[in-house]
This record gives sequence, structure tokens and C-alpha cells, in this order.
Amino acid sequence: MKKRTEKKTVLITGGSGLLGVGLLKTAPQKYEIIPVCNSNLVLNYLNFKWHKFNVTKQNEVLEAFDYFKPNYVIHTASIGNVDYCERNKDEAYLVNVEGTKNILNSCKEHGAKIIFTSSNAVFSGEHGPYSEGSETNPVNYYGKTKLIAEELVKNAGLDYVIARLILMYGWNYQNERKNSVTWLIEKLQLGENVKMVNDTYTNPLFNIQAARALWQMIDRDNFGVYHIAGKDRINRYEFALKTAEVFGLDKKLIESVPSDYFLGIAKRMPDTTYITTKMENDLGIPPMSLDEGLFLMKKNTDKFTV
Ligand SMILES: NC(=O)c1ccc[n+]([C@@H]2O[C@H](COP(=O)([O-])OP(=O)(O)OC[C@H]3O[C@@H](n4cnc5c(N)ncnc54)[C@H](OP(=O)(O)O)[C@@H]3O)[C@@H](O)[C@H]2O)c1
Repeated sequence: MKKRTEKKTVLITGGSGLLGVGLLKTAPQKYEIIPVCNSNLVLNYLNFKWHKFNVTKQNEVLEAFDYFKPNYVIHTASIGNVDYCERNKDEAYLVNVEGTKNILNSCKEHGAKIIFTSSNAVFSGEHGPYSEGSETNPVNYYGKTKLIAEELVKNAGLDYVIARLILMYGWNYQNERKNSVTWLIEKLQLGENVKMVNDTYTNPLFNIQAARALWQMIDRDNFGVYHIAGKDRINRYEFALKTAEVFGLDKKLIESVPSDYFLGIAKRMPDTTYITTKMENDLGIPPMSLDEGLFLMKKNTDKFTV
């Protein structure tokens, strides 16, 4: 049996993911942090002691909870690749829904509060901008799994926060999924041409700001659904141009195309821009502009601190 420290314990699933590393880089000292990874074995990143479990295995999850006895669980582990989810529905359901169920069961056993990370994919994108009370209507399988998981969280009888995030960018951990910015930087540095869609709008979110919003929710003991997003409403093509500009890369390699240029992929939402008034008022966090987020990324090319 693990000896409890005086500090409150926060267990983070998906610790090696984009949000996970943002949470670790900004973690307040007052908490004992337990980052959890799965297939991408992390041993000593940012000086945290890592634990390993697969969220789809109830026994592994419960064993970790019994040992660490977390007060809070930030559940970010998920399959977030929208096209992969469309092609691998059983696996997407297993991780995004059953995995969340396993986390909730373990939270119940230990009376832990859950901070669940959801997505703009719970909306159709036909009626943006969206507030927390807007009607949900996912158009792809990924969005459906996130909405089912949200319902499980709401009905679990636990203290909860559902933090709906949106197109996130930032320095990802090695071997983890790239994001709009790190993918583009790599392509443009290699001199490759890229086609970016000009008709899907979001307000992109810097992973560090997302992380700070989540820590604030824990500190302030917030409850319920929150939309967390950046300041600028922008389409993917404009986002790519802005990224190239900030990182001094060749904009001429970027071509603007409509979404239907790409065939056979999961349906995308035209405009899932969020209204961020609740984030600003309840959390005291003003949304960060894209310029600011990209410049912070550029300034911190060591990729470890922000
Ligand atoms: N990124 C975005 O643009 C975006 C937008 C809206 C909402 N969100 C939401 O934000 C949250 C975090 O997303 P992210 O982009 O940071 O994720 P990410 O970079 O794709 O990383 C996913 C994380 O989940 C872990 N994971 C996957 N399957 C697992 C399993 N079976 N058991 C345990 N861990 C598992 C991965 O670990 P391994 O690699 O070790 O398997 C990885 O650490 C998710 O809930 C996502 O739905 C993200």
C-alpha cells in the first residue's frame, strides 16, 4: 500500500499526448502528479515518475487507482484521429467509451473528481459559434464516441468537469501524434507541397493554454461543461499560412482546397468555433491569440518549457 503524501494527487491519463505534456509542463507544485502512458513507453520525461496502463483494461486501471489513490483524474487518453476512428469503430469505441467507463468506475471506488476532455466534434458545425448549452449532434464516429462518453461522465454520480477542447497545437512528445503546426513545419522544412482546406473553421487552442485552463478548474473546484478555445476564428488554410509566416517557412508550398477535395474520410464540421465567455468569466482565462501561441512555440524550440 502506497504511503499518502500531504499533497493532493492528480492522475493524468494520456500523459504523453499533446495535452498531457502541456499539463506536465504547467503542473502546479502543490500537487503530486501521476502521469500515465500506454504504448509509447515514457520513462523519465520532465522528471516525473511515470506509470503505465491501458484504459481498456479495468483491472490495470483499478490497480493503479488502488495504489495512487488520486483525488483528481484528468482523463485525456483517447483515440483522437478522426479518420482512424471512422475506419476502426470497434477500437474507437473501446478506448473512447469503454476506457472512460473504466476510469469512471475507478473514480467511484476512490471518490475522485474527474476532469474529462471532450471535443468540438460533438457538434455538427452547421450552427456555430457554440456555447456550452448548444445542441450536440456529432457527424462522425469520433464525435459520437466523445458524446457517449460525456453522457457517461454526467450520469456517473461523481463530481465532474467536461472540458470541450478544440483543434489543439503545440510541441508534441516524440513518436506521438503530430498536430496541425508540427505536421506543417515538418512538411514545409522538407520542401513538400501541402493542400489545406479553406472551409472548416475553428478557434485553435495552444496546448499550454488548454492545460492552464484545466489546472484552474481543479484549483477553483469548477463543475460542469466548459468550452476551451483560442481567440481567433480561422480556417485550416489561413492557419497554415499564419504558421508558415511565424516560423519563416515558404508559404508558396501551401495550396488552398475545399474539404471535398479529400475523398473517403470522416465527415468534417464546417464551423465549430466556440463562444468562450464561460472560460473567461469562471476561470479568468482570456483566450490566447494564434500569433501569441505560435510565437511562444517558436520561442521555446527546446520543446520542453513554455
Ligand atoms: N488534439 C486536438 O486537436 C483535440 C481537439 C479536441 C479535443 N481533444 C481531446 O483532448 C484530449 C487529449 O487529446 P490529445 O490530442 O492530447 O491526445 P493525443 O496527443 O492523440 O494523445 C493520446 C493519448 O492517449 C493515450 N492513449 C491512447 N489509447 C490509450 C489506451 N488504450 N490506454 C491508455 N492510454 C491511451 C496515448 O498514449 P500512447 O500513445 O502511449 O498509446 C496518448 O498519450 C482527448 O480527449 C481528445 O479527444 C483533442
